[in-house]
Amino acid sequence: MLFNRVLITGTNGLLGQSLVRRISQNREYDVLATARDDSPRFEATSCGYAPLDVTQPDEVETIFQDFTPNVVINCAAMSDVAACDEHRNEAWAVNARAVKRLAKHCRDTGARLVQVSSDFVFNGKRGPYDEDARPDPVNYYGRTKLAGENAVREAGRSHWAIVRTVLLYGTGQDLSRSNVVLWMIEKLSKGEPLHIVDDQYRTPTHVDDLATGIERLVHHAETGIYHLSGPDLVSIYELASTVAEVFGLDGSLIEPVSSDFFEDDVERPPRTGFIIDKAKTKLDYDPRSLDEGLRDVQASLQGFSSS
Ligand SMILES: NC(=O)c1ccc[n+]([C@@H]2O[C@H](COP(=O)([O-])OP(=O)(O)OC[C@H]3O[C@@H](n4cnc5c(N)ncnc54)[C@H](OP(=O)(O)O)[C@@H]3O)[C@@H](O)[C@H]2O)c1
Repeated sequence: MLFNRVLITGTNGLLGQSLVRRISQNREYDVLATARDDSPRFEATSCGYAPLDVTQPDEVETIFQDFTPNVVINCAAMSDVAACDEHRNEAWAVNARAVKRLAKHCRDTGARLVQVSSDFVFNGKRGPYDEDARPDPVNYYGRTKLAGENAVREAGRSHWAIVRTVLLYGTGQDLSRSNVVLWMIEKLSKGEPLHIVDDQYRTPTHVDDLATGIERLVHHAETGIYHLSGPDLVSIYELASTVAEVFGLDGSLIEPVSSDFFEDDVERPPRTGFIIDKAKTKLDYDPRSLDEGLRDVQASLQGFSSS
């Protein structure tokens, strides 16, 4: 096996945790999970763990020297759209500059770099998008993610892959950020009314499907751009209504509003979502439906509460 030493960054996040679980199940990989904290927020029994802040050049250099990865999967990101707008320097440092540094180390050592990116690189006028669509971000988060994509190419020809995804949901341990589905469940469970936009469309993605897709991409040493999302294009209002239905919560608490309702909000692309035919064909990617994905979230939440 050529690509067996896998370094994963940002592993305390939603995707990072799922990816570590998925990849370290397979004994052909020697996985080093890294994140900013001194210790992992998840059970790291079948992989190594080391602290790594990807914005710190010395730390990155030491990890490359000590672990000598063949593959680097970068899940570290500032993923909160509003926070990126407010803390622009920090957002650029993590989402763009740090990727450039990782790419340079990959080029110098011959490692391959898999960068996780976002539907927010698109303007949302003509979704759903395939891999050939032209990026045109409408907010600062999208601009930093596009800069990260461009930086990845410095890893050298045939040495990089970009995996774009859309509105991630799922469960994890001690996550620093909630996700939209968990947030909806929490609010509706408390009986709180919700204003939810009905003019923004996405293909919500169960995080474990994304992790499976990335593992296959690494396994087959695929390069280039891949769109990995869920199969169902829905408005955020439809998503909230489906959450209410699946979880047996009161859907009448959800009031549909247009994006203009949130006057101070950062601009978001109205209609993204992905066409995932390339991933289906090349990776045998077969993501669960939104309904199935939400039922799986329900099952894992019940697992957490009974354990
Ligand atoms: N969430 C979505 O809906 C969505 C949609 C499209 C694309 N994406 C992309 O998917 C990827 C994974 O997103 P996610 O939902 O898993 O995000 P997440 O839960 O916020 O995870 C990102 C992780 O990166 C870590 N991180 C931030 N700065 C770091 C640094 N300097 N060094 C090392 N780690 C750092 C964070 O650490 P802390 O936990 O310590 O803060 C966090 O654990 C990101 O590239 C994101 O842009 C996400």
